[in-house]
Amino acid sequence: MTHKSALQHPVFKTISESADNLGVDAYVIGGYVRDYFLERGNAKDIDVVAIGSGIELAQNVANNLPNNPKVQVFKTYGTAMLKHDDIEIEFVGARKESYIEYSRNPIVENGSLEDDQNRRDFTINALALGLNASNFGELLDPFNGLKDLESGLIKTPLNPDITYSDDPLRMMRAIRFATQLNFKIEDTSLEAISKNSERIKIITKERIVTELHKILESKKPSIGFIHLEKTGLLDIILPELTALKGIDEKEGQRHKDNFYHTLEVVDNICKTTDNLWLRWAALLHDIGKAPTKRFHKKIGWTFHGHEFVGSKMVYKLFKRLKMPLNDKMKFVQKMVFMSSRPIVLASDVTDSAVRRLVFDAGDYVEDLMTLCEADITTKNPKKFKKYHNNFKIVRDKIVEVEERDHVRNFQPPVTGEEIMETFNLKPSREIGIIKEAIKEAILEGEIPNEHDAAFEFMLEKAKALGLQVS
Ligand code: CTP
Repeated sequence: MTHKSALQHPVFKTISESADNLGVDAYVIGGYVRDYFLERGNAKDIDVVAIGSGIELAQNVANNLPNNPKVQVFKTYGTAMLKHDDIEIEFVGARKESYIEYSRNPIVENGSLEDDQNRRDFTINALALGLNASNFGELLDPFNGLKDLESGLIKTPLNPDITYSDDPLRMMRAIRFATQLNFKIEDTSLEAISKNSERIKIITKERIVTELHKILESKKPSIGFIHLEKTGLLDIILPELTALKGIDEKEGQRHKDNFYHTLEVVDNICKTTDNLWLRWAALLHDIGKAPTKRFHKKIGWTFHGHEFVGSKMVYKLFKRLKMPLNDKMKFVQKMVFMSSRPIVLASDVTDSAVRRLVFDAGDYVEDLMTLCEADITTKNPKKFKKYHNNFKIVRDKIVEVEERDHVRNFQPPVTGEEIMETFNLKPSREIGIIKEAIKEAILEGEIPNEHDAAFEFMLEKAKALGLQVS
């Protein structure tokens, strides 16, 4: 049986002709073939392996394509890349060595197809389709990768100890694919990951974070985080999360397991948002609970100030993982810092509390509500309904207060210059005091967020401070 329908794009015909002209065997391999069988949409990344020089084949293909695209050659890796339409095609010579990106070792080419497939990460990524006229669309699947695709199994072509020590990032890739595809990881593979988990330390943070992003972008990230935890990888990468594990009991009082609670929150939020950074916020929203946990005889377990401590930990964590310390990080910090605000408010939804919430959260107030709704993990259906209802009331109130008071991205209705002009003041402490008092009066609902009302209020406040109109 051939799979020509996977190779309908005209570029495959060109590659086929080039390969035949050069007298080399060529195959499409890896993610493209895997995703074709999974019907995961038309992949735009195509990997071609040549039994010979991948670079030479790439150059020949480029010459035969109508627009003669430029070939980018990566000599150290023995690979070449070209772009055609919106497709990126990478060419590589079959190897006897592993597919280690950024490897410093010289690349050994001149392997057979089977050598090459042996050195790939998983059986489902080692599927190859023939490109020469003689075997166009023929599947070469020495490890029964197709069977593993059908039964949903992540399995290494070689002994997993070898495959993972060749490139320890593959431990994360196994877990990432299991999460994205909802596949099982073969037991021997999981054992090998547990055994080799320490080796993840030699992998750059950037590559680890790419995998974490992909896990978080999946439908049910808990699958991945549970594997990461069980294999010991999480303890090395994100110890802030493993520190949340466990339930303590004192004098008959228990608290919930905040690790598993967190994973539930993450899965919940993935049902309502694609925003990767909001998903990160869900993952980290409780990390301050480990260092702030205390037991009080009268009130039981407390986590006082965990939101503040947690938001500080976000910075350290992002820095350690070489993640961006930019507005994305600040957003996550803000979400963590404010994560309990709507809950406190929900029991008594006053206008002024909602105004303060909108004032403090600004444009992120809806994201914050989404986070808090995902945070409802009670198994008691009555409470579940009640909490959601309360947040619905908060959401409605936000819209109402917004329409009336415009405190989002608050601009003071009376400016500092106007205050200075009115009282003939130079920049001084009084101006700050007056501005703060106006803002407070608006948030408290004492005056509307309008210039004239604020101006009147300013005159009164200034009088109390002993200032004269000039
Ligand atoms: N590969 C490998 N070991 C790695 C990385 C990649 O063996 N550490 C091989 C696999 O055969 C993989 C192919 O190189 O299919 C291409 O890798 P990559 O583009 O990173 O991944 P894809 O499998 O295409 O999947 P995705 O795009 O989802 O990352």
